[in-house]
Amino acid sequence: MVKQQGPKLVKGGMFIVFEGIDGTGKSTQLHLLAESLHRLGYAVVSTREPTDGPYGRKIRELFVDRGAVSHDEELELFIADRQQHVQEVILPALADGCIVLCDRYYLSTVAYQGANGLDPDFIMGRNKDFPAPDLAIILEMDPAQGIHRIRNQRNEHPNSFEEESNLRKVAAIFAAMQHAYILRINGSDTIDNVHGKVLEAVKKGLAAKTIGAKENLKVNLVNLLTS
Ligand code: TMP
Repeated sequence: MVKQQGPKLVKGGMFIVFEGIDGTGKSTQLHLLAESLHRLGYAVVSTREPTDGPYGRKIRELFVDRGAVSHDEELELFIADRQQHVQEVILPALADGCIVLCDRYYLSTVAYQGANGLDPDFIMGRNKDFPAPDLAIILEMDPAQGIHRIRNQRNEHPNSFEEESNLRKVAAIFAAMQHAYILRINGSDTIDNVHGKVLEAVKKGLAAKTIGAKENLKVNLVNLLTS
């Protein structure tokens, strides 16, 4: 008899988010990480924000006509979308022991709605009840290069969130963020090199989570990477 092996589960799950301005390769890296983790036998849930739910769809309409709602209303739409996403997708998957990979999360709100004129600390406060990620990978790149990539590689036009002057403000807010869970990686490196760095970070994080569970330690994954 061949015994089927189930997926490897992580106690309490592991929550990894990809952040950064558009064109930095977040979606590509998320996909590559999901494949590598699947190969290693882990249960992985890949998701994104804005979601495909009712609030996410409303947000996508804004990409066409951003002036249709006020800055405060825009913020509240992202929060409402996240509320539903956290309750219905992220928390249940973490409770099941999955590794959750999310393309954008609340640091995007701080950076993009912050660039819109709202106070980044206020935005962070509006997000305080959502679970913090175990690891937030910020892919960094010059905004001009990000826009060039959107135009040429994806054959898309940047949406109204992605005009260069706006993206410069967004990038500056991302650059100023200081949270223990942030790991910055140069997004203009090759896809393979970036993936190598991401995977190394996640593997160390997974090892640390196991040690943490055993010895009841609170582990900072990013400190661990630099030690
Ligand atoms: P994307 O699906 O291509 O990543 O596009 C999502 C856009 O929405 C992107 O321009 C960033 C923006 N955005 C915000 O402004 N605030 C947020 O909280 C999130 C999640 C995304």
